[in-house]
Amino acid sequence: MGVLADLKILYRMVFHPGRGGSHAERLESFYAAQADHYDSFRRRLLRGREELWRALGIPEGGVWVDLGAGTGANAEYFGPGIERLKVVHLVDLSPSLLGVAQRRIADRDWKNVVTHVADATQFRPDEPADVVTFSYSLTMIPDWFAALENAHAMLKPGGKVGVVDFYVSRKFPPPGFKRHGTCSRLFWTYWFNYDNVFPSPDHIPYLQRHFKAVLLEERRAKVPYLPLAKAPYYIFVGQKGAEDRGACPTDALAAAGSGEAS
Ligand SMILES: C[S@@+](CC[C@H](N)C(=O)[O-])C[C@H]1O[C@@H](n2cnc3c(N)ncnc32)[C@H](O)[C@@H]1O
Repeated sequence: MGVLADLKILYRMVFHPGRGGSHAERLESFYAAQADHYDSFRRRLLRGREELWRALGIPEGGVWVDLGAGTGANAEYFGPGIERLKVVHLVDLSPSLLGVAQRRIADRDWKNVVTHVADATQFRPDEPADVVTFSYSLTMIPDWFAALENAHAMLKPGGKVGVVDFYVSRKFPPPGFKRHGTCSRLFWTYWFNYDNVFPSPDHIPYLQRHFKAVLLEERRAKVPYLPLAKAPYYIFVGQKGAEDRGACPTDALAAAGSGEAS
């Protein structure tokens, strides 16, 4: 059964990458047929999620927003501790994946976890968030700048952003950062792009500019059915400055008419 389920997922990934006129349609066409088997395959592909959740330390009574939450599998990493949060918002553009999340919420009888079919670049909770997370979603959001600006704006001063995702290094990364060889950068870019996943050399520098880095780890992970390959991914935890009350610094600069990104 496990292998059969994997074959279905691999078939979708190879022969049916997302199709449709809009981003939401492409996501749903990609995920609708794999939603029921999504978790078992992605558990082996999407590494570092549990560690990210452990590193975040969401405060008692906190508000957590997971942008691009998919099936809500990340909520499981809290275990019973999830009940001490005030509210958990699971946000995604794919109704099929959120359908799995809703079944999970009903099975676990979580009263404080809600789903939203919404765009990560636009969704806002009705109160400031303590933590905003992106787990393997930033690489699938075309306007990821807008998604991070939105995350920054919805966070409380001192609130945290957590990101775990695939990436490729810059050709000449700054000292202290890992450098991926040309073949590695080209291979992973092409391999992921096929399924509308866009690993970027710019996510980490952008995150570092807009949040105070609390944790940054660059790693590699095995990929199911690609025995010799290890995909690069990173884990980032950053904090919004206590003085940043609203907009992302880029917005503030744009509003001031400087036209120069921070
Ligand atoms: C690789 S999946 C990761 C899902 C989940 N976070 C996990 O760790 O299993 C990426 C998710 O991002 C969602 N996504 C992509 N673009 C989005 C957007 N603009 N707004 C909301 N969700 C989006 C997809 O529908 C998908 O569920």
